[in-house]
Amino acid sequence: MSDLAIIGGTGLTTLDGLEIVRREPAGTPWGAPSAPLVHGRLAGIGVVFLARHGEPHTIPPHRVNYRANVWALHHAGVRRIVAVAAVGGIRADLGEGAVAVPDQIVDYTWSRAHTFFEDDLDHPVHVDFTCPYCARLRAGLLDAARRAEVEVADGGTYAATQGPRLESAAEIDRLERDGCDLVGMTGMPEASLARELGMGYAHCAVVANRAAGRGPKVITMEAVRANLESGMDKVRRVLVEFVEDAASRAGA
Ligand code: HPA
Repeated sequence: MSDLAIIGGTGLTTLDGLEIVRREPAGTPWGAPSAPLVHGRLAGIGVVFLARHGEPHTIPPHRVNYRANVWALHHAGVRRIVAVAAVGGIRADLGEGAVAVPDQIVDYTWSRAHTFFEDDLDHPVHVDFTCPYCARLRAGLLDAARRAEVEVADGGTYAATQGPRLESAAEIDRLERDGCDLVGMTGMPEASLARELGMGYAHCAVVANRAAGRGPKVITMEAVRANLESGMDKVRRVLVEFVEDAASRAGA
């Protein structure tokens, strides 16, 4: 039983090198998660893997049942989530294939089921979200990247947009004025739901494309797929280092 989960996004529907021990279809009070929880071993270390968009990839970002995903992981004993996410790079140094561990979030999504504290409450619940990501998980990912010799951008603000369409160039200009460095469609409410259940959460973001108006005039899915392939290879190397280190600390 592992307390560490990896949520895989676009480009990471399965985790190469994950030795599958058990697949667990899970029901939750919020409905079914995107896919069965995969209990397995990565580099010999226990982890739980969940494909955010389903297996195969069929669930678009605005249709992901984020509550069911996070709840199912928590119910399975997970207390730390490393969420892999494909993003568009807004900041100039975040080109295709770059990997980043952001440290802030701005939420532009709407009408998603975004809280566990909706009805039947004795009193309203307002979780602190000043620092949306877990500092220890972030530090662990950055250390792992150094050991794996993978260049990773430390910090940055993740803009969560509604999708499924990509943004207009003017929307990206606005996100940039808001201080955002990366843009993706799945970071919220995943991160805040994890916080509501007291779970650590960090993003390992891979730049699939330059954000709208920052690169080629048209963003094609072919280009996105090709960029993700090289970026995800780096992410896998970081994750292996990360779980090996987490296991050695647990054993120490
Ligand atoms: N915008 C939003 N989400 C994304 C993008 C983008 O450009 N690329 C990958 N996910």
